[in-house]
Amino acid sequence: MIGRSDEYEKMYRLEGQLWWYRILHERVDAVLRRHFGTQRDIQLLDAGCGTGGLLRFLQQRGYTRLRGIDGSADAVAFCQARDLPVVFLNLNHLDQFEPETTYDVIVCNDVFCYFDDTNLIPLVNQLVRRLRPNGILITNNNAFNVFRGQHDRAVGSMRRFVQKDLEQLLIPAGLQIRTATYWSLLLSPLILLMRQWQDWQLRRGWRALEEAESDVYMPPAWLNETLYRIVRAEQTVFARTPFGSSLFITAGK
Ligand SMILES: C[S@@+](CC[C@H](N)C(=O)[O-])C[C@H]1O[C@@H](n2cnc3c(N)ncnc32)[C@H](O)[C@@H]1O
Repeated sequence: MIGRSDEYEKMYRLEGQLWWYRILHERVDAVLRRHFGTQRDIQLLDAGCGTGGLLRFLQQRGYTRLRGIDGSADAVAFCQARDLPVVFLNLNHLDQFEPETTYDVIVCNDVFCYFDDTNLIPLVNQLVRRLRPNGILITNNNAFNVFRGQHDRAVGSMRRFVQKDLEQLLIPAGLQIRTATYWSLLLSPLILLMRQWQDWQLRRGWRALEEAESDVYMPPAWLNETLYRIVRAEQTVFARTPFGSSLFITAGK
């Protein structure tokens, strides 16, 4: 993804409105409220914060001690345009970033897919080292290879995960999984169909590989709102669901 200025520009423009980001950001906020109640001065690091949508969302909800790191100059420039406290750093060198600072919360959403095991295990160990004893790690990741498609190509994602992969990664690093759920179950058939259709177009040569674009685009407003409400309803009824294109996990020491 790093280097795809067009994808960062879309993320920056749409992450405040697009149903998928709204659900994810609200979910993170719900975890924070569950763990920390009304406390707003918890120290939070967003590792691989992209263009800063989550940090801005949390800032608007009164959280005051936020930091972000990203390894893309485009992403950091967009964060700076929003006046967010974000630094440019490759997460492979996280040990060099304010080594003595620890956090109540570390968020690492949709970043693990850019790391192979050789780099991911040290990254997770670094994240765990930075968590305070009562701290929590929140991590959303793309799930199930069956959803692999044009979106993954466009954003350069190397892998998808199932819960067992995350358990094998987080538990040896000293964390316990507190909650884990795939999402969205109800939208899975639609997303699967879309990915199959996109792949079919590529195979038929109707689209070139270089034209692959992510799923970050704005549908008509009514559809965006409908998708948002479906996922909200699903999450209100079910605490966890067994299938979906994303896996949302919270873990603590
Ligand atoms: C799919 S985006 C997710 C952004 C954000 N967490 C969100 O949920 O919207 C992945 C982000 O990870 C960043 N990233 C990927 N590899 C990285 C690395 N080695 N060091 C720092 N950031 C990295 C990318 O620049 C990108 O902003």
